[in-house]
Amino acid sequence: MISISLPKLSPLANPNSAFEDLNPKPRLLMGPGPINADPRVLKAMTSTLLGQFDPQFRGFMRETMALYRQFFETNNDWTLVLDGTARSAIEMVMMSAIEQGDKVLVLSFGRFGQLLDEIAKRSGANVRVLEAPWGTVFDLAQIEQAIKSFSPKLVAVCQGDTSTTMLQPLAGLGELCHQYGALLQVDATASCGGTPLPVDAWAIDAVTAGLQKCLAGPSGIAPITLNNHFAKIIYSRRHLEEGLQTAGYTAGTGSRIASNYMDLAMVIDYWSDNALNHHTEATTMLYGARECARIFIQEGLANAYARHAQASRAVVAGVQGMNLKVYGDLNNKMPNVTGVYIPDGVNGDKVRGALLNDFNIEIGTSFGQLNGKIWRIGAMGYNARPDCVLHTLAALEIVLAAEGHKFTRGAGVDAAYQLIGDRP
Ligand SMILES: Cc1ncc(COP(=O)(O)O)c(C=O)c1O
Repeated sequence: MISISLPKLSPLANPNSAFEDLNPKPRLLMGPGPINADPRVLKAMTSTLLGQFDPQFRGFMRETMALYRQFFETNNDWTLVLDGTARSAIEMVMMSAIEQGDKVLVLSFGRFGQLLDEIAKRSGANVRVLEAPWGTVFDLAQIEQAIKSFSPKLVAVCQGDTSTTMLQPLAGLGELCHQYGALLQVDATASCGGTPLPVDAWAIDAVTAGLQKCLAGPSGIAPITLNNHFAKIIYSRRHLEEGLQTAGYTAGTGSRIASNYMDLAMVIDYWSDNALNHHTEATTMLYGARECARIFIQEGLANAYARHAQASRAVVAGVQGMNLKVYGDLNNKMPNVTGVYIPDGVNGDKVRGALLNDFNIEIGTSFGQLNGKIWRIGAMGYNARPDCVLHTLAALEIVLAAEGHKFTRGAGVDAAYQLIGDRP
């Protein structure tokens, strides 16, 4: 017997509840993500299921690729969606590109930088982490020095780290990495759709994302884009599973990717004209991903970014008007999420509980060194709208006043209202 105790698992409070209809309360999700999905996305997800090799479905896959090329502003052929949440995409890319002992430089400025570090290590990399204090980002000179002294094969960074609400500027970073023979992988889960990410113009080799933030969808499928150079590194490790091998098959020269599910070389085979079987495609999720990109492109990239920026300004003005302080370097704040210091004498969890229970509004707490210190208020995707921001601020004012926080009643909502729409 292994002497370890497993975690506690409470029984169902009411054994019959599992047989009742699902009837969740209509929450307004104003945390760091997930957020409420656009109803168009949920509608698309009720479309009829198809077999994954049905020519209609293969057509939807190609359309999804084309839409995400526009979304990522790239000509990369290998722009597709991976079944799994955003971290599975980070893992698929890293496990498939990194061979044992490869050097990876992780630029970490929050919890999700730490995640990149962990996944790179689990993928067998020799990792060096360059850390920026939470609430700040890196400048190119710092990064250049780290690249020069470590000579990594891959540099990995989050564009936006939701844990600290900071946005790393990426212009120039791709060229810098290439100058020293390194590749650049970006986790844009939390930022893409809310702020520009011109993948080709910024010479980024690999990007992974998720739907559940600015793309206004549910989590569960992850858009990615890889340039040909990056895709070739992965495809050189192609080792088809035995059941798919045919006469004349020869394995790639690179080492076999350690996980079958995370084997992006086989996933590339599935998406390519080879149409080789791998996992059973999550058809419903692909429909959702297609609709997310379609909504975004119909709105126009610049309009979507402007909408997020406006919502961000309104949240900032609103909380500042309530005598609250915004966390971190405001010049490098993500537009879609705002960190707000919990004022002295106020119980942060109690405020979040009151917002949820009395107003059906969810805002976020934080992790690690920021746990209990800041709230995170998101306004992104379908919820980057004036009404959502104003509802949230109005509810927060009521709850904060009840908690005894000192401020001028109405000042926060008024400040936000002035910034929203065409009001003078
Ligand atoms: C920056 C960032 N990266 C990765 C993830 C992980 O995404 P998922 O929960 O979809 O796996 C998140 C989730 O919040 C995130 O904010």
